[in-house]
Amino acid sequence: MPVNLTYHGHATFSIESDPHKILIDPFFTDNPLADISADKVEADFILVSHAHGDHLGDTIAIAKRTNATVISNFEIYNYCVRQGVNAHPMHIGGGFDFPFGRVKLTIAHHGSSFPDGSYGGSPCGFIIQTGGKTIYDAADTALFYDMKLIGDHFALDAALLPIGDNFTMGPEDALHAVEFLHPKLVIPMHYNTFDPIKQDADAFATRCKDEKGVPCIVLKPGETREL
Ligand code: NI
Ligand code: MN
Repeated sequence: MPVNLTYHGHATFSIESDPHKILIDPFFTDNPLADISADKVEADFILVSHAHGDHLGDTIAIAKRTNATVISNFEIYNYCVRQGVNAHPMHIGGGFDFPFGRVKLTIAHHGSSFPDGSYGGSPCGFIIQTGGKTIYDAADTALFYDMKLIGDHFALDAALLPIGDNFTMGPEDALHAVEFLHPKLVIPMHYNTFDPIKQDADAFATRCKDEKGVPCIVLKPGETREL
């Protein structure tokens, strides 16, 4: 079964793994790069890496409309339940088998407060195994040496890596991450949405291929890639 990955700008992706639709960090409203609006997107499951507004985004509205189940850390799970939304609690290091496949929460070095400042638990990344493919979404994070463990334990078909700098890894550190992870394919994210995270993604893609020998695809918002 094909696994199709669509970029929606910033850190927002959807994965179609027939018949399942998985949405990651659904930030559409106020996302200047978004190709669609929150009231159009479909989802059975929504993965939320942390509680910052550009990741939690439209989670509650989309989950209410689609009846999707939110997969996140325990603190964001509690918030979702209070809003009357289906949710599944997890935490860092834990994996669970869902109808579409397996999700494991990895560490991420970042913050995770809700937009109102309340505590959102620890931020995370995701290892998603679905339709025979393994995808690592690093989410918002600094470079960390334990990415080597992820690269050693999983044969990654794709790594979604932030390159924006300022709030997360920049291109230089993302190239180190590629070395640690040795995925089949790199897809950059979390850049060009706001002024402080402007980057030349094509230049990063060229360096990724030339210096690390790993193909890197720059997806435009709305663009889909079969993994
Ligand atoms: Ni963040
Ligand atoms: Mn962010």
